[in-house]
Amino acid sequence: MWLRRARTIGLLVTILVTIAVPAVLFAKSLLTAESKTYKQAKNVILFLGDGMGDSEITLARDYAVGAAGRLSLDRLPFVGSVTTYAVQEEKPHRPEYVTSSAASASGWSTGEKTSNRRISTTPGTDEDLPTLLELAQKAGYATGDITTADLTDATPAAAVAHVSDRDCRSPAEMKACPKDKKSAGGPGSIAEQEIDHKVNVLLGGGKKRFSQVIENGNKTLMEVAQTRGYTVVTDTAGMQKAQGKHVLGLFHDADMSLEWKGEAARPYPGSGPQTCQQNQRPANEPSLAAMTLKALELLQKSSEKGFLLQVEGASIDKQSHIMSPCQQIGETIAFDSAVKVGLDFAQTHPETLILVMADHGQTAQIIQKPEDSKQPGAFSKLITKDGSLLYVSYATAPQGKAQSHTGTQVRIAAIGPNAQKVSGVLNQTDIFDLIVETLKLR
Ligand code: CO
Ligand code: CO
Repeated sequence: MWLRRARTIGLLVTILVTIAVPAVLFAKSLLTAESKTYKQAKNVILFLGDGMGDSEITLARDYAVGAAGRLSLDRLPFVGSVTTYAVQEEKPHRPEYVTSSAASASGWSTGEKTSNRRISTTPGTDEDLPTLLELAQKAGYATGDITTADLTDATPAAAVAHVSDRDCRSPAEMKACPKDKKSAGGPGSIAEQEIDHKVNVLLGGGKKRFSQVIENGNKTLMEVAQTRGYTVVTDTAGMQKAQGKHVLGLFHDADMSLEWKGEAARPYPGSGPQTCQQNQRPANEPSLAAMTLKALELLQKSSEKGFLLQVEGASIDKQSHIMSPCQQIGETIAFDSAVKVGLDFAQTHPETLILVMADHGQTAQIIQKPEDSKQPGAFSKLITKDGSLLYVSYATAPQGKAQSHTGTQVRIAAIGPNAQKVSGVLNQTDIFDLIVETLKLR
């Protein structure tokens, strides 16, 4: 009997030691991770992969660094999930399960859910909601808004502009927002509002829209920006030299050029096997990483207090819509390089909270080898870093139509002050509260 008891005790001790020792070690490593990163917050960098759900992250990782590899965005210590749904315009108490970029960006920018075409305005009642960027400006922080899209695209727009429809991007495109027109006493188009707000650093595409003449005037938006103190640059060399508290970079007529190219997905038997062609972006257009690095340099000089910077990798989504896996992966990898710039900055500036998240999921699914000609949608065979074949499928729209966003929750990852609050399931509107609290904006 005593022998059995002794054995049982022995076994219990073994079990306890097996559980407790690693638990203690684990708790200790978590503690050091926290005490290392937790300092008074001065800066927040919000990295936004448009349409970069878990499936899109996995696709880029599998292709570019291998299934067991890790991207820079995989290296942040705190991870949670974000629900992304929008609300209905007519019945705002009802969810719209699949969000647009406009509603999702309005969600984290203002802390309030809105309907799918709105930019930081309320559903149904069309009231302007104050944004994080506006609150940060009021509190004395420098602000930056950078993207690989046209600067008037939904995500950069929601950070700072208020219009009832995302298409109201320039003075000539105000049909859907008659009340927002300056001549009607409104704040004007997205482009006008971005300049009027004097965001310190605006970098992206959109030269064509900013070349438009303002309503009832003879100056272009770019000229107006200059009279307000902006240094306006249009290529990589210009950006590198740019100094001053206000810099507007417009590096393409519309959305910026893509990093990679390859064959689009096709219906059965699919496209490929293919290896993506890299290094496609013209050198006179800066990479998202180069824009991020420049923004960090400029913002640090703009305010002693600190800064709020939003960095968007926009074309992950745009290339998913048109079923172009290589282009989509290339944009994800370019976004990841920008995240790396942020992480390097945080190494020497630990008072920086870095958040990496997405506005919604997209279509791409990694699937088993399709064997049947009735295979839905379109797919492509990619030869990955591991040397294996990966089948990526796009099947959320009929042939010839743009693929759909999806209603899945997406990843959020964090490092720095308050990063430990990024865990569990959050709502995209909670990110507003997290940044408000971190920078003490209210
Ligand atoms: Co989006
Ligand atoms: Co989209």
